Amino acid sequence: MSAILLRPRAFQPSKFSCTNISKFSLRTMASTTSPPKFPFSRPAGAEPPSEYAYLRANDPVSKVELWDGSHPWLVVKHKDICSVLTDERLSKQRQRPGFPELNAGGKEAAKNKPTFVDMDPPEHMQQRSMVEPLFTKDQINKLRPSIQKTVDSLLADMIKEGGQKPVDIVEKFALPVASYTIYGILGVPFEDLAYLTQHAAIRSNGSATATQASNSNSELLSYIGDLVEKRLVAPKDDLISKLVVEQLKPGHIQKADAVQIAFLMLVAGNATMVNMINLGIVTLFQNPAQLKEVKADPSLVPAFVEELCRYHTASAMATRRVTKVDITLGGKTIKAGEGIIAATQSGNRDEDVFPDPDTFNIHRKRGSEQALGYGYGAHQCVAEWLARAELEIVFQTIFKTLPNLKIAIPLEEVKYSPPNMDVGIVELPITF
Ligand code: HEM
Repeated sequence: MSAILLRPRAFQPSKFSCTNISKFSLRTMASTTSPPKFPFSRPAGAEPPSEYAYLRANDPVSKVELWDGSHPWLVVKHKDICSVLTDERLSKQRQRPGFPELNAGGKEAAKNKPTFVDMDPPEHMQQRSMVEPLFTKDQINKLRPSIQKTVDSLLADMIKEGGQKPVDIVEKFALPVASYTIYGILGVPFEDLAYLTQHAAIRSNGSATATQASNSNSELLSYIGDLVEKRLVAPKDDLISKLVVEQLKPGHIQKADAVQIAFLMLVAGNATMVNMINLGIVTLFQNPAQLKEVKADPSLVPAFVEELCRYHTASAMATRRVTKVDITLGGKTIKAGEGIIAATQSGNRDEDVFPDPDTFNIHRKRGSEQALGYGYGAHQCVAEWLARAELEIVFQTIFKTLPNLKIAIPLEEVKYSPPNMDVGIVELPITF
């Protein structure tokens, strides 16, 4: 697993104070006519960009400027985000002109044949429903014992190696929990888990070269292609077999589609899942009274997970759309063919919906409002129940098994993902 050590350059708080940065950027936003550059940067650690609070108060539907000079709309209030994500006049098809791509790599990837994540109705649901039955709440509940086994065995391995000296919990635990779980669902044999995890890490790793990343991508695709062939000959009880038996054999999809769908499930939520585990650990140490409560009473874990998925939006860049016709939103006319970015990270901190939004509080009184960490509407995360189950099992187990777990560096030195990318933690030394 040495390749996992190739990590994205970590974001460490700069010597400028976060108040200076936010004052500067807010003044810039208020005084210039050209839209501010997007993605915004987090001022420090896991704090959402301060621009969001400013825009929620002053200009909730506004334009931003992307890397390619394009000017899509940015929507920052919870209610407007829900409206964007349920409006069928908007499209998720990345090949439509005006779709907001956040970098050159995205623009290139948009040329590939789409899977359901980038489709509109009716194709979206036709393809999503090929995998959805494996991710219902009931189905995921049946998987809990096997997720528990994965968590227990990774923690047992850590104990075997000893916890006196700092070990990186990202590499030893968070990454394999997330990877092994989804690979198990797909049907990857146990002996190949480490190899695939390594390639998946290189593929999504900011510090690997473009060639390394592209080689790992091809490696994963060809591995899945071989697995599809094997399941064609001898199907088993797994997701790839389901695609092969129910879709590929009857001719509803081609082999390339089966490979692409399986690949989507393999990569779609992996980095996010890993980041949410890491963020959960750090957030508890930042809130020691709540850590004490969760340790003493694991029945609080579901409420902790709920609040964690509101407080940290580790997949905040996916919720992008383009208009098919002119629409009006927040009093602004958005023309056909203009891009929209629904800032779920901002919606999760909307003070009109979540009072005192910047406080992490597992006892937060919640009504019917929904946090937006898993998106909203037809494209809402298909694996939400899996992600929640993994987080619940991890946090119900980790402090029971490693009661003396401590973060081995001061909290201010935790290495976060680059400030203008999705929030995450790249490395987390712990002792136990
Ligand atoms: C805590 C972990 C996770 C978070 C926060 C998360 C978040 C999200 C979000 C925000 C979306 C909506 C994108 C949109 O509206 O365009 C999404 C969709 C999706 N997620 Fe997740 N996800 C997580 C875990 C996973 C995992 C583990 C998998 C795979 C097993 C996965 C697979 C997908 C897929 C395939 C979609 C596309 C759904 C569609 O377009 O119909 N996610 N996720």
